Amino acid sequence: MNLAVFISGTGTNLKALIEAQKDKFFTSQIKAIVSNKEAKGLEFARLNHIAYLVSKDDDEILEFLKDYKIDLIVLAGYLPRISKKLINTYKIINIHPSLLPKYGGKGFYGRHVHEAVFENKEKTSGVTIHYVNENLDDGAIILQKKVDISGCKSVDDLADAILKIEHLSLKEVIKKLEVEN
Ligand code: GAR
Repeated sequence: MNLAVFISGTGTNLKALIEAQKDKFFTSQIKAIVSNKEAKGLEFARLNHIAYLVSKDDDEILEFLKDYKIDLIVLAGYLPRISKKLINTYKIINIHPSLLPKYGGKGFYGRHVHEAVFENKEKTSGVTIHYVNENLDDGAIILQKKVDISGCKSVDDLADAILKIEHLSLKEVIKKLEVEN
């Protein structure tokens, strides 16, 4: 599959996918990267000579992606809402750092998720990878992994524990979808 990866932040999930591609963990190729801002994670695009676009404009994003025959868009820490136009044009998946539907929806993204989970003294959290539909964090779940967080002493501990599992889960899902594609 030809992949486009969308990011907004540090891009460690993007990095994990680039490494998986280099290791031939899957056969898919990351053809394009999109960010809504000058995100830190764009350094991985530059280092690996992958085409990228910084834009908040969906028409511009659609135009950019047209050249790369994209089969799947992977939202890897991409924060803006995805428009109908994009949803109707591409198959899109998203990675979320909790066991959806818990800690999903408005306001639950990135560190905010972990803060709420920590505050509630949860013993278990996890990772969800799901298809994207018009409703936030709501599409069909492809993979969910539970993580024991009973030993986490801080929000940072918790975020690190979840992120490690995210990196493993995302490449697994790409491999799984290759078979189905
Ligand atoms: C990840 O934890 C991802 O699950 C989360 O943003 C982080 C991005 O990290 N996504 C969401 O919260 C989406 N609702 P990264 O930029 O290092 O990959």
